[in-house]
Amino acid sequence: MPSRGDELAESGQKAVPKRPSCWMGGAARICFCPTVQAAQNPYPRGVNTLILGATGGIGQSLAHRLAGLVSRLWLSGRNGQILAGLARDLGAQAVPAELGHELEVQALAAEVGPLDLLIYAAGAVSKSSLRELSGADLERLTTANLGGLSLALKYATFNPNARVVVLGVYPDLITVPGLSAYVATKLGAEGLTNVARKEFRREGVRFCLVRLPAVATMLWAPLAGAPKTALHPDDAATRILEGVLAEPMPDVLEVRSA
Ligand SMILES: NC(=O)c1ccc[n+]([C@@H]2O[C@H](COP(=O)([O-])OP(=O)(O)OC[C@H]3O[C@@H](n4cnc5c(N)ncnc54)[C@H](OP(=O)(O)O)[C@@H]3O)[C@@H](O)[C@H]2O)c1
Repeated sequence: MPSRGDELAESGQKAVPKRPSCWMGGAARICFCPTVQAAQNPYPRGVNTLILGATGGIGQSLAHRLAGLVSRLWLSGRNGQILAGLARDLGAQAVPAELGHELEVQALAAEVGPLDLLIYAAGAVSKSSLRELSGADLERLTTANLGGLSLALKYATFNPNARVVVLGVYPDLITVPGLSAYVATKLGAEGLTNVARKEFRREGVRFCLVRLPAVATMLWAPLAGAPKTALHPDDAATRILEGVLAEPMPDVLEVRSA
């Protein structure tokens, strides 16, 4: 019998992703192409990077992939134990924050300073029909999927040509019974990102919405586990970074199942 995840992912397996041949960052000057990396300094200066949701499945994989490639890597999440261990292992800076607390987000933004790359990898899901959806769950998902992004953009400062990356969804894949709060908050974040792209243009900040298929992380725990076709988070992270560090960065990056 197909799992809930298999049902959700069933239409997400069509296309094979098209990868750019080389990914030279513009202002960021990061490149994951091995040929170019060998010929260049793979540890560019001046790339100040913050991952929000760094303690999550995709966030941790992104952190591992970016460690050593950027001059300064800030990792944020709520789970202090995971955060401290990850930061220690990667030589990164841990900056714990609850994304629902405005003062914590404000303090975090002040601590990390002007960013070249901000990745919003925080998120939460719950499974509940509209008849059963609790106010607490709706608030939790709103904070993790939408409110935290709004606060981060309220307080973050950026260097010219900075990139903001927001991990999003394929709306069709998640528009299923039980996921109303997830759908509403993820699509809210997508709308917010589209407006932010216009508002921040004059600051030279660019935005990329990354559409992801199912990725095997703990996000799926409330949904009885990820589908068998789910991407490994390391694979997802590699594809995300290949896409968002391309020049020019796409407004929308579509990552597909293998
Ligand atoms: N996995 C998938 O199949 C999939 C598919 C499409 C899109 N996405 C999106 O990709 C992103 C990452 O997902 P994931 O699979 O890596 O999820 P995950 O493993 O469940 O990680 C979620 C992350 O969000 C953080 N977080 C949640 N609420 C927070 C809050 N109030 N304040 C601060 N941090 C908070 C968690 O921090 P703590 O654990 O430290 O509390 C954790 O770092 C999410 O936006 C998700 O919607 C995922």
